[in-house]
Amino acid sequence: MDIQGKQTTLAGRDLLTLADLQASELQDLLQLAIDLKQGKLKPQAQKTLGLLFSKASTRTRVSFSAAIFQLGGQVLDLNPSVTQVGRGEPIADTARVLSRYLDILAIRTFAQSDLETYAHYADIPVINALTDLYHPCQILADLLTLQEQFNTLKGLTLVYLGDGNNVAHSLMLGCALAGVNVRIATPDDYRPLPAVVEKATHLAAQHQSQVEVLADPQAAVVGANALYTDVWASMGQESEADSRIPLFQPYQVNEDLLSRADSQAIVLHCLPAHRGEEITDGVMEGAQSKVWDQAENRLHAQKALLASLLGLAD
Ligand code: CP
Ligand code: NVA
Repeated sequence: MDIQGKQTTLAGRDLLTLADLQASELQDLLQLAIDLKQGKLKPQAQKTLGLLFSKASTRTRVSFSAAIFQLGGQVLDLNPSVTQVGRGEPIADTARVLSRYLDILAIRTFAQSDLETYAHYADIPVINALTDLYHPCQILADLLTLQEQFNTLKGLTLVYLGDGNNVAHSLMLGCALAGVNVRIATPDDYRPLPAVVEKATHLAAQHQSQVEVLADPQAAVVGANALYTDVWASMGQESEADSRIPLFQPYQVNEDLLSRADSQAIVLHCLPAHRGEEITDGVMEGAQSKVWDQAENRLHAQKALLASLLGLAD
């Protein structure tokens, strides 16, 4: 171990939502990610990460795999189609068995309650690698990207446009915790869940930031330091994709909308993107787009998360 003076309180814990973190723990994670990215620290441990993914993934799967390899560990693919999970073995049984083989488990699934059941029965740290409700690992990388671009988080304003989905929910919590003002602009029927808005608003009040939920995309982006969007139909909602397009069209991140934000604003997208729907090709490839840095930061942020939860940062 080569991480001097870096204390973490995260060892042995789960990350099911960003609301699990204290603001200081989030700051420590981001600083650890920066140190790891700069090669200042090289924790090493032979640990095994399991990836139990019930939905498709490129970034999360590959960045977690690369991160554990770079920490000296290995990854096991527990895709339900190649394990008994897909044949209906109960979560309570699977979680206890996997805890006897693995050191840490990242789960991508549908219901947050299933993730919570895994965490309840597992003796090892469980990470939310995306559920229908939250996507905390994505937001760790997003905050790292904002920190790198602006050299600060406090007082920035991020505007998310589109569906009030898992990414929007975690952005609200993460931004609130980090002191970033967050505006969510969605069609009326696609607002974020009131319980999440309430939680984020409560966190924001403690960290001198603001959470707003708006309907007007053009008003929302005024003064924004970052515009952020995601697909209009998430995994599991494919049958609604076509009917959503006209409703969401006013929320497209295009050249006109971007011109209404701060002139130094950056554009973020968790990816995968549907060019021509939630974001135009021109904006995605434009000078203000930081989506590739953002995607790279999945690796650094999750390496910091793995190191912290595995106790390598103690
Ligand atoms: N952003 C993200 O989570 O991408 P993947 O679905 O490819 O993992
Ligand atoms: N909201 C998207 C995010 C994908 C990374 C989904 O859940 O499909």
